Amino acid sequence: MRNVTEDTITEAFLRLNGKKTDPRLLFVLERLSHHLHSFARETGLTHTEWRAGLKLLMEAGKITDKHRNEFVLFSDVFGLSSLVDMINSRRGGTPSSVLGPFHILGAPERPNGARIELWQTAANGLYSNQDPEMDEYAFRAALKTDVEGRYAVSTVIPAPYTVPMDGPVGTFLKAVGRHPWRPSHLHFVVEAQGFRTLVTEVFPENDCYLDEDAVFGVREKLIMRYERHDRVEDAPTGFVRSASPTLPFYTVAFDFVLVGEDGDRAGTASVAMAM
Ligand code: BEZ
Ligand code: FE
Repeated sequence: MRNVTEDTITEAFLRLNGKKTDPRLLFVLERLSHHLHSFARETGLTHTEWRAGLKLLMEAGKITDKHRNEFVLFSDVFGLSSLVDMINSRRGGTPSSVLGPFHILGAPERPNGARIELWQTAANGLYSNQDPEMDEYAFRAALKTDVEGRYAVSTVIPAPYTVPMDGPVGTFLKAVGRHPWRPSHLHFVVEAQGFRTLVTEVFPENDCYLDEDAVFGVREKLIMRYERHDRVEDAPTGFVRSASPTLPFYTVAFDFVLVGEDGDRAGTASVAMAM
């Protein structure tokens, strides 16, 4: 197309694609270019704004390495990661939620009997891979459920924390007057043969950031309650406990519902946690 105009540029772009291009790729490109070009037209995007956007992406590229991915963090704070999660877990079961950048491979298996991996911050709001004072695998564990899918774990209550603010995502959040806080949460990956792997998080009902999570990870079905106990005798059984609970302690019961690989079988992993 020689005389490309504001109205024909999307078509001109699409015409360049080869006839043998994968149909799904063509479809996604068609929708992406349509929305991207409409966005520029509707906003009357200026050169300054366009350059500012590209600069943020360039800075994201500079700060990204094998330990840190600022593009994923942009996706998180824009709600895109959560939206993709929701679109891909429409078949029921426990809702999924963001994996986040603080998951690391190799969590030590703790003795107990479907594999459940858990990671969380310490009470200071930091993950072990953010705090040089902590052991590499502190507040991380891989558990096995018993044959009926039950398991138990005892840990400390994690704290709310902020997404990393020292890169372009921080620049962006400040520019739009957004706070960087996530509500306190425990991360889980639940795996069982024949079922889809569930990546999710659970959040306490009394957290002040539940309605304004910086990365949009909260779902109604992922909210749990800390039940307070003031007597050691009330400690639930079935724990491999490193120390007897300090008082008061709190218990949480949370069931994960997995969706079968074929999409219509569901299995439950019942969880009790003591903090
Ligand atoms: C997290 O929960 O670990 C997390 C998720 C998204 C962005 C930053 C942190
Ligand atoms: Fe987290």
